[in-house]
Amino acid sequence: MNPAINIKNVRKTLNSREILKDISFTVEKGDIFGYLGPNGAGKTTTIRILLGLFQANSGSVEILGQDINMSQTRKKIGFVLDADGLYDNMTALENLVFYAHIYEMSGTEEIIKKLTSIAGLENRISDRVSTYSKGMRQRLALARAMIHNPDILILDEPTSGVDPSGQIEIRQLLINIAQNEKKTIFLSSHNLDEVQRICNRIALIDRGEIKLYGELEELRRGMGGGTVLIRTAHNIPESLHYELRNIVSFGLKEKKGLDLIFSPSEGTGVSDIISFLASHGIKIEEAIKKEASLEEMYASILKEVET
Ligand SMILES: Nc1ncnc2c1ncn2[C@@H]1O[C@H](COP(=O)(O)OP(=O)(O)O)[C@@H](O)[C@H]1O
Ligand SMILES: [Mg+2]
Repeated sequence: MNPAINIKNVRKTLNSREILKDISFTVEKGDIFGYLGPNGAGKTTTIRILLGLFQANSGSVEILGQDINMSQTRKKIGFVLDADGLYDNMTALENLVFYAHIYEMSGTEEIIKKLTSIAGLENRISDRVSTYSKGMRQRLALARAMIHNPDILILDEPTSGVDPSGQIEIRQLLINIAQNEKKTIFLSSHNLDEVQRICNRIALIDRGEIKLYGELEELRRGMGGGTVLIRTAHNIPESLHYELRNIVSFGLKEKKGLDLIFSPSEGTGVSDIISFLASHGIKIEEAIKKEASLEEMYASILKEVET
């Protein structure tokens, strides 16, 4: 079976700067896929390529096994970009009818009614979009993007600029759409917390490079192997230092003054290291366990972007 989206070795140069450097990932059918990265990482550029709005310099992009530039492929995608494509001076209903016409659909009453209900806009459907909050606009834009019943939704930071309660509503709506309407959702986000709440698979992009990719659960499990810092009360003798280095399962990485930094292998606990040191007469001031979590990894990426 073809995956929903398959992007392989894509490179994109803009103004002689390489914005995307060898991007590859796969979005499976039924995924809520999170494309996570800080501002300027290259998320929107990737989305433009997925939608056929930009041509990649090299590499390949397949949507459901087909070329995005074929019209039947385009029909399988609905999208919401930064500009939500809504007409302020029309009512929400008029907007949906308008888009239904663009897709040359007939008998649209039922589908519009259904989408209005999914988006939770029944009470406001006859109001002009100019009176909508940002969160409502986004929900209407989502309904608009689904008018032609696409298989895949591509959403560029759908909760950006939306107030917290509106963000919660949109996230719930996305989960409902994926589960009940059986859509594949690709969303970009700079918010790790959001991605962790709703996505099952992620790719983390930083300065045009994929830093991490896979099933969220698996990635979280894989990052378990953190470090242990043990602060000794006094300097350890050279011979013991040597001995510690030779215990592979402890994974002594560094000795900085009184601090010993270990990266123990699986099955080796902090207590194993502590008892070893104690049995050699070493007094311990402090032991700190640090998980190599996704949060820490992302925080360090954000820090690098800022500086
Ligand atoms: N049309 C363009 N021409 C030149 N540079 C661009 C253009 N669009 C985006 N960029 C640059 O590409 C980088 C990635 O941008 P973008 O894909 O919008 O990132 P993100 O959506 O992750 O914030 C940024 O450094 C941005 O300045
Ligand atoms: Mg962007």
